[in-house]
Amino acid sequence: MRMWFKIIIFAYGFLVESGYADELDTCSLAAKGSPHFPANFSFGVATAAFQIEGGWNEDGKGPSVWDDFVHDHPQLIDDRTNGDVAVDSYHRFDQDLAALKELKVNFYRFSISWARIFPTGDVSSKNQKGIDYYNEIIDKLIANGIQPMVTMFHYDLPAEVQKNGGFLNSKIINQFASYAKELYKLFGDRVKTWVTLNQPLLYCRSSYGYGFYPPQYLNAGVDDYICMENSLKAHAVAYHTYRTQFYKKQRGKIGMAILSKFFYSKTNEQDAIELGLQFALGFQAHPLFAKSGGYPEVVASNIAKNSLKEGFNKTRLPMFDEKWRKLIKGSADFLGLNYYTSAFITRAKDKSKVLKPSWENDRDCDESVDPNWKIAKSPWLLCVPQGLEGLLKYIRDEYNNVEVIILENGWSDEENVEDNGRISFIKSHLQAILNAINDGCNVTGYTYWSLIDAFEWVRGFTTRFGLFSVDLSSENKKRSPRKSAGFYRNVIETKMIPDKI
Ligand code: BGC
Repeated sequence: MRMWFKIIIFAYGFLVESGYADELDTCSLAAKGSPHFPANFSFGVATAAFQIEGGWNEDGKGPSVWDDFVHDHPQLIDDRTNGDVAVDSYHRFDQDLAALKELKVNFYRFSISWARIFPTGDVSSKNQKGIDYYNEIIDKLIANGIQPMVTMFHYDLPAEVQKNGGFLNSKIINQFASYAKELYKLFGDRVKTWVTLNQPLLYCRSSYGYGFYPPQYLNAGVDDYICMENSLKAHAVAYHTYRTQFYKKQRGKIGMAILSKFFYSKTNEQDAIELGLQFALGFQAHPLFAKSGGYPEVVASNIAKNSLKEGFNKTRLPMFDEKWRKLIKGSADFLGLNYYTSAFITRAKDKSKVLKPSWENDRDCDESVDPNWKIAKSPWLLCVPQGLEGLLKYIRDEYNNVEVIILENGWSDEENVEDNGRISFIKSHLQAILNAINDGCNVTGYTYWSLIDAFEWVRGFTTRFGLFSVDLSSENKKRSPRKSAGFYRNVIETKMIPDKI
């Protein structure tokens, strides 16, 4: 008996030594290569305006589509909370700054509320108090050695812009580019990294395809694709405006945030993996980074085939003409990647229950997850760090090793402060990035989502992603570091992943 015990202990020791034991834990990853992040690698945290600011109608701010949505449909938010006060960052940036300083982050990614500085969305409707607020944030960050990284659009479209159709009206292209131009003029002397749009495929599908997000349109497979067309064009014009009119003086870089999973197949269906990747990553990244530009071929051909079958007289996917294909191609200095989770994928078996037309039906695949993957408070979020490593290598090979900045990666739980689950998540995903870098991937930054607990869209405050918890019932919306905050700070200080947590 004792002999068996010794053998088991020995075998376990061997597995730990060789890294295999880590692989058995579904939220960890074995190290491959150097344990050090490169000297120029930077670490940050992210938030978005509507999710934290509050002050929804203060000092001249105009309403956004999300203000209208939460007011008109409080029952659609899990806990009936809203963005009126949120975590009150409009009045409490100093508390956020204290948290950022405690973490010792190199940069802070936050978004600008378009309607706070241009209440109608039109640049003629300037609101100086809103501008002052962002100037203060930027100046205080820089004074504390933290680089500002600014997202121009994170879902909170000015309500007036939506009245004209929002992303379904091609007017948005120039409207967004004019807004971007004003941002360069106002803040570009100090902001050197810009993110135009946050996850266009997600907001296009949620807002115009499936009605989960405002303006709650239900026209899947049609309006979500029109939204994609206008979003990519708006991004490209904003990019070229910067390059031709501001870059020489301001010398910053511009990207777009792209959300994607990685995909695996238990039955080695390479075509399903490819469809999964092209209909997510490729839909957004191929037009910007692939040699040929435009949408991926499988995306274009699946949609065209289905459209004809469904009785449309042409494809539902608006195709870029030569001028636009060229303008969009190359219109980013880095690929901004939002990575949360991955899935198994197969070619679709039973299509009877799938909405037609729709992105799902066009993709023609079914997703599933491994029951062993560790699950967060958010049911869609499973810890799959190897998926991030896989995705980074895919990007390296598919898009000529373009520079990648991870713009979001995060784990949700409840209000607890002992957040060991979040620490395993961050640790294993940092390991995935390090493994990818050691394998030649050009990844230069990591952003944890999020700095503080935030209004999680239709989930309200039922799921928490913050390194700092926020006590919503306290008068000053007290921010307190979770255990993960100390862990992350240690990573940032040492540029290494600590062995022990
Ligand atoms: C969004 C965030 C959101 C996070 C977690 C991301 O895709 O950009 O706004 O809070 O997911 O749900």
